[in-house]
Amino acid sequence: MITHASYGVEPWCLRENVLNLDVLPQSESVFALSNGHVGWRGNLDEGEPHGLPGSYLNGVHEVHPLPYAEAGYGYPESGQTVINVTNGKVIRLLVDDEPFDLRYGRLISHERVLDLRAGVLRRTCEWTSPAGRTVRVRSTRLVSFTHRSVAAVAYEVEAVDSEVRVVVQSELVTNEQLPKSPRDPRAAAVLDSPLAPEEHLARDGRLRLVHRTRRSGLRVAAAADHTVDGPDRTRTSGESGDDVARLTVTSVLAPGQRLRLEKLVAYGWSSTRSLPAVSDQVDAALAAATDTGWTGLLRDQRAYLEEFWGHADVEVDGDEEIQQAVRFALFHVLQAGARAERRAIPAKGLTGSGYDGHAFWDTETFVLPLLTYTAPDAVAEALRWRHSTLPPARERAQQLGLRGAAFPWRTIEGSEGSAYWPAGTAAFHVNADIADAVVRYVCATGDEQFARDAGVELLVETARLWRSLGHHDAHGTFHIDGVTGPDEYSAIADDNTYTNLMARTNLLAAADFAERHPEQAVALGVDDEESAAWRDAAESVHIPYNSDLQVHEQHAGFTRHQHWDFAATRPDQYPLMLHFPYFDLYRKQVVKQADLVLAMYTCSEFFDEEHQARNFAYYEPLTVRDSSLSACSQAVIAARTGHLGLAYDYLVEAALMDLNDLENNTRDGLHIASLAGTWTALVAGFGGMRRRGETLRFTPRLPERLSRIAFKLEVLGRCLRVEVRATAVTYTLLDGPELTIDHYGEALTLGSGESRSREVPELKPRPALDQPPHRRPNAHRGT
Ligand code: BGC
Repeated sequence: MITHASYGVEPWCLRENVLNLDVLPQSESVFALSNGHVGWRGNLDEGEPHGLPGSYLNGVHEVHPLPYAEAGYGYPESGQTVINVTNGKVIRLLVDDEPFDLRYGRLISHERVLDLRAGVLRRTCEWTSPAGRTVRVRSTRLVSFTHRSVAAVAYEVEAVDSEVRVVVQSELVTNEQLPKSPRDPRAAAVLDSPLAPEEHLARDGRLRLVHRTRRSGLRVAAAADHTVDGPDRTRTSGESGDDVARLTVTSVLAPGQRLRLEKLVAYGWSSTRSLPAVSDQVDAALAAATDTGWTGLLRDQRAYLEEFWGHADVEVDGDEEIQQAVRFALFHVLQAGARAERRAIPAKGLTGSGYDGHAFWDTETFVLPLLTYTAPDAVAEALRWRHSTLPPARERAQQLGLRGAAFPWRTIEGSEGSAYWPAGTAAFHVNADIADAVVRYVCATGDEQFARDAGVELLVETARLWRSLGHHDAHGTFHIDGVTGPDEYSAIADDNTYTNLMARTNLLAAADFAERHPEQAVALGVDDEESAAWRDAAESVHIPYNSDLQVHEQHAGFTRHQHWDFAATRPDQYPLMLHFPYFDLYRKQVVKQADLVLAMYTCSEFFDEEHQARNFAYYEPLTVRDSSLSACSQAVIAARTGHLGLAYDYLVEAALMDLNDLENNTRDGLHIASLAGTWTALVAGFGGMRRRGETLRFTPRLPERLSRIAFKLEVLGRCLRVEVRATAVTYTLLDGPELTIDHYGEALTLGSGESRSREVPELKPRPALDQPPHRRPNAHRGT
């Protein structure tokens, strides 16, 4: 676990002022830079020591056979895994014949700062070599939000107290040796040398390497250009080979003298373009970046983020650590999605190779809600990516004997990458999650063009899936049997409430959208009979309920199962899936992650207040939170049912998931869904925000610990600011035409620039709830 004390608490940056090599892999994830297209882990400039070297290009993957001990019909034959592409961030340094390597000599000081407003990672360190030569090294690194294919580093070395000869080697390195992956199903498959060389070049300070993946046939190019500034005796030379291209700079520095290198790196990849075309593509990207220049890139980066923070910032008074964490979270979620542009947003973003770089329902259910109200263009792009994967999703449905489209549980390029049916394709709810994201986006933006181009088709094809997956019983009730809901400790169950309610929303939305867009509906072959069948299934969907306990069942029969023996489960046996067989988890009442509780958040209109409270009280002592996706959903429902202290604890857990390495796997990459969940816990939890059609409703209420939160939302082209204090809330329409919102059931219409304040009603006290032993949320500063 990273103790949070290694990072200072500051509102707009994350500062580490001591280098702790034991947690280097985690800090590489935390300090990762990305724009959603290119991702660089926070590896040290000199490449070593490292935890996991990582440079990623969204979509660049290798395929590998999925072996099965016993074959079965419909099992995916190959898996996909993200690969570490050419590393353009390496800058090695030789100080009077000795490599600058922090494991040797004496490290006098070392600081890294992730600046959330400038969008850069800065490093400053002072080091004395084993032979007693002291140098100061400063670097600034960015992955550009404005030049999608470009990343850059400014690197400076200074002699401190005696003359030193320095050699700086700026490199492009391919097929780096990767550490063996731990035996954790959440880590990635490691492929040795996945890239075959095609071209290398080093000329006049410019470097280029082109490779091709061996099986997936993707061509990947990286190019770099340099500006060198040093004393008179500074010389440069270049050389290249299959897997390395290098610019070498030699100089002699008198005390106080500096050698400075600015390195611009461009990436490109394609499954179709020729070698010359991809080479030209990276050269062109480099030319554009050179034209902007290092200073221009820095300026544009800051301007991009200023615009983002202007309508996305969340202010928190009362807990500085949470203030920092929510900005850290917003920054990383933006990095994951900003320029993904018709590619997936993976569960780890581009910060590590965990989960093989796959995208899951995490995107639509956890990440897109935040982006919908803060960076809606990124949402349209993510959903257009899903739309572009309709062909394999249709094929998969057909293979399974179903209609419409069956989107994959986990994937990079659109085909199913899960080899395990019960926690794979059986989690059909991903289809309804995608549909929900479509409806949310269209309601929040009014983007009818998107609805016509992609939205209707996504809704229609997923509705068709549900209609063919479910069936009406003799009484006309619609059932969806044999599916896995969000809780992966129950599998292949009948009538999972979350799935059924989400499918209901999906079916109704498909019928509504088809009505609103008749031309698209006709083109897709939808007729009145089909949409009537969707409505019929939706209206008669079964929602299992235990009338003795007066609670909703997670799935039919769930509350009848034996309870998990929590008393006999030791703290070191969590996560349970690494210590107990699935068959046992499946047949007992134990919940990996919010499921019924999540349904109460995503389909809140279905549950009255009393049921929300009773259901939450029932599932809370069963929920072990072995998934990072759970705490944020529990935070929302805890807040809405009046358990404000508990909601606050869950907020803290979601917010510090990576900063405190709570799941012990931050080394594999950040938990982007949990980071996004920090926003959700604040906005949907304490802000009480939910959507009814196009109208936003708020039922705000703060926990004792926080004295104020304020957040901004982009909605229907306007910017709404909500400021919540202990007893009152103020809604301000910062720009755009009149907007009507709902405060605790009262409609409030705001004109442009207008503010209206309302009281926060008093809270009915609720008895405290239990969690399973050892599973109380207690992430805050290790307390
Ligand atoms: C969770 C899934 C999630 C996946 C990727 C699993 O542990 O149970 O719900 O999609 O992690 O984050």
